Amino acid sequence: MKKKIGILTSGGDAPGMNAAIRAAVRTGIFMGAEVYGIKSGYEGLIDGNIEPMTASSVSDILHRGGTILRTARSERFMTSEGRQKAAEVLRERGIEDLVIIGGDGSLNGGMKLSELGINVMGIPGTIDNDMAYTERTIGFDTAVNTALSAISNVRDTSSSHERTTIIEVMGRNCGDIAVWAGTTSGAESILIPEVPVDIENVCRKVTQGRKRGKLHNIIVKAEGVRLDSGVLAKHIMERTGMETKIVVLGHVQRGGSPTAVDRMLASSTAFKAVELIADGSERNQAVGMVKGEIVSIPLEKALKAKKTMDMRCVKMAEILSI
Ligand code: F6P
Repeated sequence: MKKKIGILTSGGDAPGMNAAIRAAVRTGIFMGAEVYGIKSGYEGLIDGNIEPMTASSVSDILHRGGTILRTARSERFMTSEGRQKAAEVLRERGIEDLVIIGGDGSLNGGMKLSELGINVMGIPGTIDNDMAYTERTIGFDTAVNTALSAISNVRDTSSSHERTTIIEVMGRNCGDIAVWAGTTSGAESILIPEVPVDIENVCRKVTQGRKRGKLHNIIVKAEGVRLDSGVLAKHIMERTGMETKIVVLGHVQRGGSPTAVDRMLASSTAFKAVELIADGSERNQAVGMVKGEIVSIPLEKALKAKKTMDMRCVKMAEILSI
C-alpha cells in the first residue's frame, strides 16, 4: 500500500515555508507516496480541510513568501477533544505520517499528535530563530534582511534630521532578529529581551555619539523587551535633547520573497523529513541545522532544549558601535 503523507503549516507564517512545502511534496511523490496538503494548520486538520497535492500543485511557489497552505493559531487544537478529532481525521484518510512546518508551539502540537499514534516530522519555520535545537529557522534570514534594508532607509533620514530613531523589530521572546539586524546595520544600541535594558547607557551613547559628530543614533529594539518605546523615546528626549522617532516594522518582516539561505534550509530540511518518513526507522523527529549540517533529533528532546543568546555577538555589537 502507498504511504500517505500529510503536510501542514502552523503558527506565524515565515518566508521559505512554500519552499519547504514544495520540497516535501516533490520528495514524497518521488518516493512513491501520496501527498496531501492540510489547509489552515491544525484548524483545517480538525475540519478535514485536506486536498491531494501533485508535483504541479507546488509549481511557481519557491520564490513566494507566506504559505500556500495558509496557517492559523488554533484554539481548538489546544484542547484534548480537538487533538483527538485531528488524529481521527488523519486515521480516516489513512494518513499516518505528517510533516509540520512551524515554530515551537506548532511542533509541541505535533508532539501531542505523535502521542496519538501519528508519525510526526517537524520542520523549523519561524522568523524568530527561537528554536533551541536548530541553529537557524526558516524565515529568519529573510526577516533580518528585510529589517536591515528598512533600518538603512531610516538611517538616511535620521542623519539628515540629526535624530535618534528607535526601530522595533519582531521577536517575542528572542532577540536574534534585533541582534543580527542591529549588528549589520551598525545600530548604536540593541535592546533584547534576554538582557535588562540600561536606559542610562542608551542615553550615554546618544550623547557620546553627538560629541564625536555622529548625525544619527539608531536603537534597534526587539518587540519582546518590556519597555514601551514611547516611554524610552520621552526619556531620551528629556535626557539628551535629541529628537527621537519610533518606527515599528511589524509584519513587514514576515512577508517577501525568501532569500537563497532560507530557500536552501527549507528545501533541505523538508527533503530530509520525507526521506526519514520513507525510511521509517526513525519516527517523530525534528529536522534542523547543527554545525551547518542538516540533522534530525527526537521531537521530544528537540522541544526540551532551551534557547540561549550568543552573548559574544551582543558584546561585539556594543563595542563596534562606540
Ligand atoms: O513568532 C513569529 C512572530 O512574528 C513573532 O515575532 C511575533 O511576536 C508574532 O509572531 C506575531 O504574531 P501574529 O502574526 O499572530 O500577530
